[in-house]
Amino acid sequence: PVIRREDYQPFPWIVPQTELEFVLGIDSTRVTSRLTIKRNPETESISPELRLNGDGIKTDMVMIDGARFGDWSMDEGDLLVNLPGESHTVEIVTHIDPSANTALMGLFASNGMLCTQCEAEGFRRITFFPDRPDVLSTYRVKMSGPKDLFPILLCNGNKVAEGDGNDGTHWAEWHDPWPKPSYLFALVAGDLVANSAPFTTQSGREVECNVWVREEDLARTDHALQSLHRSMKWDEETFGREYDLDLYNIVAVSDFNMGAMENKGLNVFNTKYVLADPDTATDADFDAVEGVIAHEYFHNWSGNRVTCRDWFQLSLKEGFTVLRDQLFSQDMQGEAVKRIEDVRILRAAQFPEDAGPLAHPIRPDSYREISNFYTATVYNKGAEVIRMMRTMAGAEDFRAGTDLYFDRHDGEAATCEDFITAIEDGAGLELAQFRRWYRQAGTPRIEVSQKLGDGDGLDVTFRQTVPDTPGQKNKGAMHIPLRVAVHCRETGALGEEQLIELRHDEQTISLPLAGPVPVLSINRGFTAPVIIERELESEDLVFLAAKDDDPFARYEALQDLAVRHLVAAASRELDQAGRAEGKRLVCDAFRSILSDPALDHSMRGELMMLPSETYLFEAMAGSDPAGIRKAEPLEIHKEREQLKTAIGVTLKRELESLYAQVADIPYDDPAGRGARKVKTQIAALFAASDPERAAVMASRQFDQADNMTDRQGALMVLCGLQHPAREERLQAFYDRYQGNALVIDKWFTLQALSLHPEVLSHVKTLAEHADFTMKNPNRVRSLYMAFAGNPQGFHAQDGSGYRMIADVILALDPINPQTAARFVSPLGKWRRIESVKAGLMKAELERIAVTEGLSRDTFEQVSRSLDG
Ligand code: ARG
Ligand code: ZN
Repeated sequence: PVIRREDYQPFPWIVPQTELEFVLGIDSTRVTSRLTIKRNPETESISPELRLNGDGIKTDMVMIDGARFGDWSMDEGDLLVNLPGESHTVEIVTHIDPSANTALMGLFASNGMLCTQCEAEGFRRITFFPDRPDVLSTYRVKMSGPKDLFPILLCNGNKVAEGDGNDGTHWAEWHDPWPKPSYLFALVAGDLVANSAPFTTQSGREVECNVWVREEDLARTDHALQSLHRSMKWDEETFGREYDLDLYNIVAVSDFNMGAMENKGLNVFNTKYVLADPDTATDADFDAVEGVIAHEYFHNWSGNRVTCRDWFQLSLKEGFTVLRDQLFSQDMQGEAVKRIEDVRILRAAQFPEDAGPLAHPIRPDSYREISNFYTATVYNKGAEVIRMMRTMAGAEDFRAGTDLYFDRHDGEAATCEDFITAIEDGAGLELAQFRRWYRQAGTPRIEVSQKLGDGDGLDVTFRQTVPDTPGQKNKGAMHIPLRVAVHCRETGALGEEQLIELRHDEQTISLPLAGPVPVLSINRGFTAPVIIERELESEDLVFLAAKDDDPFARYEALQDLAVRHLVAAASRELDQAGRAEGKRLVCDAFRSILSDPALDHSMRGELMMLPSETYLFEAMAGSDPAGIRKAEPLEIHKEREQLKTAIGVTLKRELESLYAQVADIPYDDPAGRGARKVKTQIAALFAASDPERAAVMASRQFDQADNMTDRQGALMVLCGLQHPAREERLQAFYDRYQGNALVIDKWFTLQALSLHPEVLSHVKTLAEHADFTMKNPNRVRSLYMAFAGNPQGFHAQDGSGYRMIADVILALDPINPQTAARFVSPLGKWRRIESVKAGLMKAELERIAVTEGLSRDTFEQVSRSLDG
């Protein structure tokens, strides 16, 4: 069935108290739930029906008001009882088998421990309950189990009692004083140790903070714990939000569908976002740990204290919390580089979604399976939309808006509309038209043209369109803020930045000049998640790339230069001379980046990154409004490699001297991080231009590395080479890290992502490796998500890459539907790709669609991908 946003009805009952009792066992756990329920005074419903959601569970016994009750029935998985009267207690006993739970939703076993994942609809796999985010209840939980297997027993809130049984068992009772929806429930039982350190809040309360892991992982938890402390402090200072319990627990588990989960007082994390030390985690891994720890912590206010009324409002908590974690990371790591990285993620993951069959607004209108809507659109575009509000209001007024939002809705299940209204009232914005960002899917495109005005201004004309998306046509104009400045190419004068706001299909705005040869710098800092289209002289882009004072605009100009050249070349629009000219321009811009003394190495490394092949795919398929031009991933790949070759050849001397400068900067040096980024970039360029040199460089980097960033970077380069050093170092890496799951994931990923021509057969071999398993989501993704993002392998001429991914979906669907469904979107790109490949991709989708017994998750994604 399709669930629709407009059909929302409040639940006819409230559940003030929930008492749960767990008798824990890996393959059999008994759950007793005692609910106090009352009629919801806010609904008119007079039906006596009480519907308690269930999913694949059965009840052993139902008691109503203390008496055995036989008159219940089942509907789909739900339990129905009819209860005349105002208030009752409902007691239900269920049995579940956590070890059989390979979907990893509800209560499941991982590495000998038990843990839960309830968002969005996992609680109904544990016990019968109104499993919807607008039913808030206060939980008291008692659990017991064998002390040897489960020495640690954790739940939400505070531990209020504990004791030993006389049969080798022990028990603990937990109470969470904060009413919460069922999706925030969590329970963990296992053999765990903690890294702990207290945090003192701004009002002077001491919070015990623990990071729980298996003993062998304890040495890699300091970064997570420190990140938590930094997040707690930052949220007090930046958003005025203080933590509200005396205990904050984080548990790392190795089998997990997503990154992490913000359960009240008991976050459950994928180990990938907890464990880090220099020997096993890259700089990017350290940042990801910090970012995800912050994200889950920030949810305590944006998500838990104020939660969502229904799942259509998911972006209310996710978009806002992603913005909060981005702002935090900007403050921790540096604003310019973090902003560029966030835009890169948006373009790589969200723009394609917005342009494809799975496009949906940040607040969707309908779904079959809500798990399919934990998307880059809801999360990352959602964050961009709120960031635009912040840009228009200014940080200070925006804070007044968020203060009002938290004040007004604390303890409630709110809507996106509530959030917008609070920002309007508190920040003094008018957001009537801006609300379209919540309703309309698709990335707006803005065509920009300019001419010198009569006076002393530059007349800039903006024409915006929002493309049609599945189920949505003829959309209204968006309210779009843009930070702009007009520089002068002749004098080098930089114009002053101003914020303009577009509201019409077409409008012309006059901007002040800084000198006689105007160069428009637009969407500075990536103010709005839009695509800018403009005819600009290449000299202007070269100027912006070298001189713009906005670091993002500088990055963007370089990207533009490369995109223009690569899209034209891949579309076979360039003759010999045009091709040479395009490469020359990119090389010139690169040269100024390599030698600019004003850049730190971190920023230099960022600027040296060529546009990704996914972004080029979008640019190529989207550059023709009639939709006739299709993307040719193999051409894109070939041209991009050739451009790397050209840069490597033309700038060999400059690259060598930069490499020599950065090669021996120590790990802990403040410039170390930037140096590592630059080093690997250079080796990667040489891999295209001079493989022998690259092999020497990367082997040396690998052999001398004292950290994972250098080691992984070097191995990445070697993986693309047909050189004996490749196998030697792969083996050395495997031998060194055998048994460390997160690092072995990297070993799979590096090979699946590699530029080696035989990548497809490598992946087939790796799937047979003793360390490969379909049961662990990290491992599955490490091999196959990486492969699906490798154009050379995935888009192989004969369709074998598509077949491989379709086979993965079919094999994984019965085991873990949520993770299986995530593999559908690469195949969903078929409409925008040249016709032979399009046919092969579509055939694979059709093969999946006719398979019997498909999960709701995969069925929904496959049918949308075929229809859209
Ligand atoms: N709320 C979590 C987060 O973003 C994500 C959990 C999603 N889980 C799921 N099964 N869809 O922090
Ligand atoms: Zn989240």
